Order: sequence, then C-alpha cells, then structure tokens
Amino acid sequence: MKPEWQRSTVRDIPLYYNPKVSGIRMDTSTNPLGANPAAREAMMECLDLDLNQYPTPYSDGLRQALGERYDLDMDHFVVGNGSDEVLDITFKSFLEPGETVVLPYPSYSLHSYFVKINGGKVTPVDLRENFQLDIDRMNATDGKIVLLCNPNNPTSNTFNRKDIEIILERKDRIVVVDEAYGEYAGKSFIPYVDNYDNLIVTRTFSKAYALAGMRIGYAVSNRDLAGVMQRIKIPYSLNRVSEMVAIKALQNQEFVHRGVELVNVERKRLEKGLADLGFKVFPSEANFILFKSPIDHSRLVRSLSEKGMMIRDFGNNRSLEECVRTTIGTREMNDALLSKLREVLHECQ
Ligand SMILES: Cc1ncc(COP(=O)(O)O)c(C=O)c1O
Repeated sequence: MKPEWQRSTVRDIPLYYNPKVSGIRMDTSTNPLGANPAAREAMMECLDLDLNQYPTPYSDGLRQALGERYDLDMDHFVVGNGSDEVLDITFKSFLEPGETVVLPYPSYSLHSYFVKINGGKVTPVDLRENFQLDIDRMNATDGKIVLLCNPNNPTSNTFNRKDIEIILERKDRIVVVDEAYGEYAGKSFIPYVDNYDNLIVTRTFSKAYALAGMRIGYAVSNRDLAGVMQRIKIPYSLNRVSEMVAIKALQNQEFVHRGVELVNVERKRLEKGLADLGFKVFPSEANFILFKSPIDHSRLVRSLSEKGMMIRDFGNNRSLEECVRTTIGTREMNDALLSKLREVLHECQ
C-alpha cells in the first residue's frame, strides 16, 4: 500500500489499547459490582422484540427516559453507541477540517483520536503540577472547541468548578465536558446546559451503570446544539436491545448508588493500602486511582499481569512517569491487588 493512500491527517494514529485479557480486570475503570441486573431483565423482554424492525433513528425512548431523569426536555439529548460515538458526533458537527481543539494534557487518549479522525488538530495545554487546569493558558490558546473530562482520566481528580466556568464564560467557543465518571464525583454541569449557549456534557452507561458491553452514551446540551448533533449522528446507531437495557437501567438508581457507595468506601481503603506499600497516590474522585510506582512501571504491570491482575500502565507518558492506574474494585479485588503488589515489590528488591 502506498502511504499517501491514507488520509494525511490519520497517518500517525496507532491502534488503541488492546491487551491480551487474562485474570482480573482492573485496567478499564468499569463497575466492580459486575453487569447491571437491568441488562438481563431487559434482554429477557427483548426475546419477543421484532428485531426485523429498526430502532427509532434517534432512540426517542431513551431520550424520553433521560429527559425524565434530568427534568429536561428530550430534545436536549443525543444518544449514541457509547459516549465515544457522541464525542465523535461533536467534532463531526462543529469542527471544520484543519481547525483546532484545545485539550488539557494528560487526559483521555481517545479525545485527540476523535479530533484527528475528523480532520482536526489538537493543541494540548499541560495541566499544572497538581493536575488542575492552567486556566490562563487554556483561555489564551486558540481553538474552535475546548474538550476536557471531569473527573479527569487518568489523573482521577476533578477540576475546580470555577475554572471550568471561566472557560465556559469566554462564550465564543464550544466547551465539551466529558463526565464519563460524573456519578462518582457527584458533580455535574448537566443542570446548567440551558444557562450556556456553548456547553455540551457527555455521559456514559459504561461506568456507574455497569453496561460497558452494551455501548450506550449520550450528550446533553441546549436544544440548538443538540439539534445540530442529532442531524449529524448516524441514524439508528444505538440498537434496540441496548436502548431497552438503558431505559431499564435508568429505573434502577439503587444499583448506581450502591456502586458509588462501594467505590467511596473502597477508595479510602485502597488509597491507604497503596500508600502503606510505598506508592505515591494521587487524590481521586473517580472509580480509579492513579499511583506512582517506586519500581519500573512496565515491570510492575507485567508482573501483576503474570499474577492474574490487570492494571493500566501510563508510565511512558510525559508528566506521568512511573504512573499506573487501577480501577477501584470490590473489597476482595482490592485486597487481592494489594497482596499481589506486595509480592511484586518483594520480588523486585
Ligand atoms: C473519559 C472517558 N470518556 C469516555 C469514555 C468512553 O466511554 P464509552 O464506553 O461510553 O464509549 C471513557 C472510557 O473509558 C473515558 O474514560
């Protein structure tokens, strides 16, 4: 193949994280409670669904249910195949080829991927040493759209609310706040979507709703922005089964609260356990923890994997040298992780 056959803007895009899966997964920040029971229940009902028929093009049933949950009209919502699709729709809708998106660094690696596959350019602005936004530099950096995630992945902290408000109040460009882990932080910009012309919030069913395998996400914004995104979204992109599962999952908030509570309790225990083992632990408001290894990061992650536990390695990234990230699991998972980490550290002495 001739290299020039590839679109020039996508030539440097690597394959995404695709590990050989073995053992207990604490590398993807999913829900330690396991699959949402709503999935099973809804799928049983789906057995009688006429799958010969298309879903509604824009998943009206789910948008209606989301509207009821957030006390907003359904026209504020755009639903997609994971919040990843919704992020993609955002750039398809608002970014011209060659235009720039301003992103904090370090953050979710797929953010720049979505910009690039839509022909855009990325200007990263380094977070401060405490992983907070460098607000002056963010606002002084040219770009058509600002995209950030709150809580931030992989640093696990939330940004100061006032700083995000300052970015929004510039008013002359769209600000996307990716709240994939919003339920864990208990903070959200969703109630304010009608106060801003330029705010888009994205959310997912993959984390607190424990439905990563179903691929369901959504954007919330004022009606104007949502209306544009709706026209651009591929019609029918969310299948009927996923839509029914999501509607059922929204009805079971007790499951979501239970998962958030578990993470709140286990976060403290895991942070302490990691610190006691000699790791530097960064403050978390999400369902994962970033920590710095006193031994080589890749050796740590590899040895853990050989012992049947997967965590995610960020140690090769600038500003995250020797850092790794683990999901906050159940008590048993966290105890197993601490015990395997102790073994690895011991073996490396
Ligand atoms: C910050 C952030 N945004 C979006 C996503 C993607 O979520 P979804 O599974 O809804 O595509 C993830 C997944 O890990 C994430 O960490």
